[in-house]
Amino acid sequence: MTGGPPAAQRPYVLLSCATSIDGYIDDASDERLLLSNDADLDRVDAVRAGCDAILVGAGTVRRDDPRLLVRCDRRRADRVARGLSESPTRVTLTGCGDLDPGARFFTVGDTDRIVYCAGAAAEKARHRLGELATVVDAGDPVDLARALADLADRGVRRLLVEGGANVHGQFLAAGLADELHLVVAPFFVGDRRAPRFVGDGRFPWHPGRRAQVVEARQIGDVVLTRYALSERCETA
Ligand SMILES: NC(=O)c1ccc[n+]([C@@H]2O[C@H](COP(=O)([O-])OP(=O)(O)OC[C@H]3O[C@@H](n4cnc5c(N)ncnc54)[C@H](OP(=O)(O)O)[C@@H]3O)[C@@H](O)[C@H]2O)c1
Repeated sequence: MTGGPPAAQRPYVLLSCATSIDGYIDDASDERLLLSNDADLDRVDAVRAGCDAILVGAGTVRRDDPRLLVRCDRRRADRVARGLSESPTRVTLTGCGDLDPGARFFTVGDTDRIVYCAGAAAEKARHRLGELATVVDAGDPVDLARALADLADRGVRRLLVEGGANVHGQFLAAGLADELHLVVAPFFVGDRRAPRFVGDGRFPWHPGRRAQVVEARQIGDVVLTRYALSERCETA
């Protein structure tokens, strides 16, 4: 596997993404595109509940304004009974530090928030976000392996990465993912202005090194495929 600290020094990293049949993760409009269905969103909720932290890129914070909460009451109660917060710690990456303190990422729910920020913008981000988040200078641009090692030091053993395209591409290209959950929705976007799952890159999986499918499951009108991307992948 390429890049990064030894696997034991970083959390287990699970990438989760939904695409259209033609590989888009959003459309080009101002509205957020719903790709999943209710049953699949409930599955994602269960995956979230089993993680210590959820990471999205600053682009997704700005464009989708996600809550990143565990929605199910029973799952939240189970977490609290295990001594955890109701929802996982929220994590984002930014180079420019231009994050809105009013975004739901910072305002909704009672969870820790960590912003891995390029060194040059870290002071500005601290000033902007105040007590809303812990801002960590993690290189310029942010070094993912360094951010993962810091998360491990903070007790994060299992990290869910929920996009967007830029962030998924970096984790994949750096060989820093253990498992991928890819959901395909039964329609086309057909607009090259929209973002795809990942852009150009050199990925550790290619025609000469195929990833392993550990599960394919129909969930209503979508299909989930789980890929093992490292030897740590839990194949059960
Ligand atoms: N279908 C799905 O499952 C799904 C899930 C999530 C998101 N999405 C979609 O994905 C799109 C957003 O994707 P995106 O590629 O534009 O954005 P993104 O991957 O969410 O975030 C990219 C931004 O993150 C920061 N960043 C990433 N890596 C960094 C590094 N190593 N160092 C410093 N900063 C770093 C930069 O922020 P700064 O610009 O602040 O420097 C960069 O512009 C939206 O359309 C959203 O709807 C879809």
